[in-house]
Amino acid sequence: MAKYIGVLTAGGDSPGLNAAIRGIGKASIEAYDMNIIGFKDGFRGLMENRFIRLGGHELSGILTLGGTILGTSRDKPHKMQVGNKLMDMTDVIVENYYKNHLDAVVCLGGGGTQKNAYKLVQKGLNVITLPKTIDNDVAMTDITFGFDTALGIATDAIDRLHSTAHSHHRILVVEIMGHNAGWLALGAGIAGGADVILVPEIPYDINHIADAICARSKCGKHFSIVAVSEGAISKENASALVHAEKAKKDAKNDEDKKKANTIISNVRIEQSNHTMNIANKLEELCNIESRVTILGHLQRGGTPSAADRLLATRLGTACSSFIDNGIYGVMVASEGNKTKPVPLEDVVGKRKIVPVDHPWLETARLVGTCLGD
Ligand code: F6P
Repeated sequence: MAKYIGVLTAGGDSPGLNAAIRGIGKASIEAYDMNIIGFKDGFRGLMENRFIRLGGHELSGILTLGGTILGTSRDKPHKMQVGNKLMDMTDVIVENYYKNHLDAVVCLGGGGTQKNAYKLVQKGLNVITLPKTIDNDVAMTDITFGFDTALGIATDAIDRLHSTAHSHHRILVVEIMGHNAGWLALGAGIAGGADVILVPEIPYDINHIADAICARSKCGKHFSIVAVSEGAISKENASALVHAEKAKKDAKNDEDKKKANTIISNVRIEQSNHTMNIANKLEELCNIESRVTILGHLQRGGTPSAADRLLATRLGTACSSFIDNGIYGVMVASEGNKTKPVPLEDVVGKRKIVPVDHPWLETARLVGTCLGD
């Protein structure tokens, strides 16, 4: 009997989502004779039972489009804003799954989506996921779609910032997305020849960065490009956070807990402006004018790169074949040129950060890039 499947896209939008929807849709319909619908706006659409039928017409002409034709949201099934309350809507989602006679639901998203999808697996639904995020930080897959496109955009930005940095003899500090993992800043920093790269995995010392920039000045290079991850953190703040988190855990009374929370929120406030702070501090320490560029959501926009279209299509079509074979409760992961189903319980609660012995870090150091440590 023909299977019925639903697809949704959740979390931040990412280049390659439409290519993946197309890959899943075309293979499901043409190769496996399935029926497919797309829920609007992530888990919220599944909860509100808002969907569109995905047929030849809807799947045509979307391969090269950025964003997602289905819309997305960061809503979680177990904690959804309904009116002015946060409610657990998992049971409503389960009801809608059966109401639509679904054999499986496919969730396309990053780390949060994998977690939310796993909650539905635990409710007995047939769920299968694809890893997408420009951050490339989903565990158990070599790569996520969206990353390659964002890497290209961030690299292009660094290339362009070189002109101003060079012409005005300035320090150009560019903030690149990635709150918890530094793949984008590191990759784009190396590809764009940044002089300093700061990632969350390696807490930095501002004086070491200033020394590196001053040393460049002494050799006649009167400009520098500093590529900073959103989540980059100074050594002091990193250690303050570790101590405060521990103090909060060990707190014997409300007073101690309150103190720890104050430290944590102060660090977070400082972090929210950290790229600006880095630029100001470097201007002061190096006596070189500095400017900040925050790339923000530009990095998630526009046409997906060829590599992302290929990856998303490969994972999407593999997903349909797994569904055809009744393989559920898994994420379709990329391993080299192969795809493999990884149990969701092995994916959730983990994050693929840049390991301290990663070859990209060694490469950066070997070309003389300061990593702030
Ligand atoms: O997870 C992808 C990502 O683009 C991160 O790099 C970034 O920190 C975050 O999303 C931004 O989220 P939002 O679009 O909700 O502001």
